[in-house]
Parts: sequence; structure tokens; C-alpha cells
Amino acid sequence: MAEVLEGTTLVHGPRVKRFEADFAAYAGAPHALAVGSCTAGLHLAWFDLGIGPGDEVIVPAQTHTATAHAVEYTGARPVFVDCDPQTGNIDPEGVAAAVGPRTRGICVVHYLGLPVDMDRINAIAAPRGLFVLEDCALSIGAKYKGVHTGLLGDAGVFSFYPVKHMTTAEGGMFITRHADLAERIGKKRAFGVDRVVGERKQPGVYDVVCLGYNYRMNELEAALGVEQLRRMDGFLARRRENYLRLELGLGRLEGLRVLASAGGDEAQGSFYCLSMVLDEALRPHRADLVEKLSALGVGTSVYYPRPVPHMSYYREKYGFGEDSFPHAAAISYGSVALPVGPHLGPEDMDYIVDSVKHAISEVRG
Ligand SMILES: Cc1ncc(COP(=O)(O)O)c(C=O)c1O
Repeated sequence: MAEVLEGTTLVHGPRVKRFEADFAAYAGAPHALAVGSCTAGLHLAWFDLGIGPGDEVIVPAQTHTATAHAVEYTGARPVFVDCDPQTGNIDPEGVAAAVGPRTRGICVVHYLGLPVDMDRINAIAAPRGLFVLEDCALSIGAKYKGVHTGLLGDAGVFSFYPVKHMTTAEGGMFITRHADLAERIGKKRAFGVDRVVGERKQPGVYDVVCLGYNYRMNELEAALGVEQLRRMDGFLARRRENYLRLELGLGRLEGLRVLASAGGDEAQGSFYCLSMVLDEALRPHRADLVEKLSALGVGTSVYYPRPVPHMSYYREKYGFGEDSFPHAAAISYGSVALPVGPHLGPEDMDYIVDSVKHAISEVRG
């Protein structure tokens, strides 16, 4: 990053190209395009498909609002589907039931890094010609039947926001197997110009061939990305170790269950975090539990604090009730996510287990 600042090129430089090449090699992707954020990449995919008012896209209820917003930006309607209560991933049966004459695409989220059963999603999408987009914000390193997430549908987008597996401060990566799609996204992330700076024969001479956004990644972000990506294998190994140790320790405790995010032979997760779902008796004490954990030095989060259709914007626009999407709601209103990041080790996991045990016994009185 210091080299970038001391140099002459802050945008459209070699580091973005290098980061794209490195990421493509890491994921085994034929095409990788750096973008300003995961949200920007998701939006570009739907924008490129040309959807708008009257169209529908199936999205999970249990996700970050970005997944739904990316559809909403186009004027199309996000159609929410509830999740599998054991994993939090979108329920393929719910997807099949939600497909209608206006459906143009399906967006899946590999929730907490666990790959969705993509064979089932593709079997629903393929006969109807639906576009399948993978929101891979939490799934770098995750594979389904040996294939990296993002390459199982038509396109996938990763996030490098700070709390993710690796970061560029803000940033994202769009990957696809389709050369024509990659070429269009390359233009649409940069105003729709036919050639960017560096590709121009004469400085300042270019044409605009389509509508596009300013959704680029800059050289500083890419410099960070190149270095972070080099460490991904180590990061993931540590996350896996941490997760499995924490899962083992928490599995013995009464009053909670651990969301199944690790995967198995077919679907290998990327261990974003460990989410414990509290039982009925403990659920009313969640805030207290979180506070007690915080006092013990254990940071927590919730993925995600409400199902997206329960967020005011969507609830008011589409009229969803409190009791809609019960499985997503059970996770949102009854879970606590614990960290397994590479800054932590086995002793930290043991400390977290002891802390959870202690905090539960205190809230139970
Ligand atoms: C599932 C999911 N999708 C999309 C996003 C948005 O990513 P970004 O902040 O890179 O736009 C996030 C979180 O930040 C996320 O958790």
C-alpha cells in the first residue's frame, strides 16, 4: 500500500489485475473481476440480466440485506424463502415452491460459509432458464463437490468487508465461468466505457457503449487483497481447527444447539463463525447472556439480527407479518455467533466454552 501511495497509479493499475489473477487461480475461476463491494457485484449481475419491475428473484430470508437490496435496486421484486433450521441455508423445497411465471433468477447465500445444495438449486433453475447467482460474502474457500463456491451457478460474488475471512477494507470479487458475462461486467463496473485508462491508444479517447456504474476496486484495496489472499490457506486451517474445537466443547452444553455449518465430504464449509441457537428457556435471556460474555471478554454477533423481510423497509413495502419465515426468525431472534477467526487459538476456544458455560449458569440464576 505504501508503494501504491508513492507511485502514480491509484486506480486502473497493475495491482487490481494481479489480485484478479491471484483470486482466479485460488478459486479455479476462469474469470475474476474486482469490484467495489460484494453488494456492487450482486447489483451488477442483476443489472446485466436486465431485470426490472414485474420480474421476481428468489432470495433467502436469512441473509444480509445486501442480497435483497441488489434485486430491489433494479425494480424487480425479491421473493423471500425460509431456511433449513439445521443449517440456515435457503431451503431448496421452498425455492421450488416460490418459482412462478415472473421468476428470472435465484440468489443463494452460502450461509456462514456452508455451501448450499447447489445440485438441487440448479435442477430447479436449469429447466426454466433461471439465472443462478451465488452470494459468496461468507464463503471464500468453501467448496461443493470439489468446486469452489461462486462457480456452481452462473456467477458468484465475494466480500472483503473487514469482518470477512480476508479484507480489503471495502471490496468484492465477481467470478464466473461465462466469458461473455465477464466481458460485460468488466464494462458495467466502470461506466460502460469501451476501454479503460491504460487500454486507450490515445489518452482521453474512449466511447461509452452501455450504461454502467462506478463500481471499481482501487489499487490500495487490491494491494491489501493480494497480501491477504496469500494467507488464506493458513487463515482457513486455523478457522477450521477453532470451529471444530468450539463445536465439540459447546455440543456438551445444555440449553443450546450449534448450527451445522462445517459441512462434510460433499460440501466443505469455510467456518465464518459458530452460531449457537438457544433453546426456548434461554432465548429470553439472550441479551443478558451476550452482556455477560462481553464482560468476560468474549465478543459476539448475530447473523443476522432479523430475517430481511422483517426489516422495516421490506416489512412495510411488502407487508410481511411477525410470524413469517419462522426458521429464519428462530435463528435471528435466538442465536449468538461466536468468533473462530485466525487471531484466535485453541486456548481461546476453551476459554469461550468456559465463558458460555459460566454465563448460562448465571442467567439461569
Ligand atoms: C451474505 C452477505 N452478502 C452481502 C454482504 C455485503 O457485502 P459488502 O459489504 O462487501 O457489500 C454481506 C455483508 O457485508 C453479507 O453478509
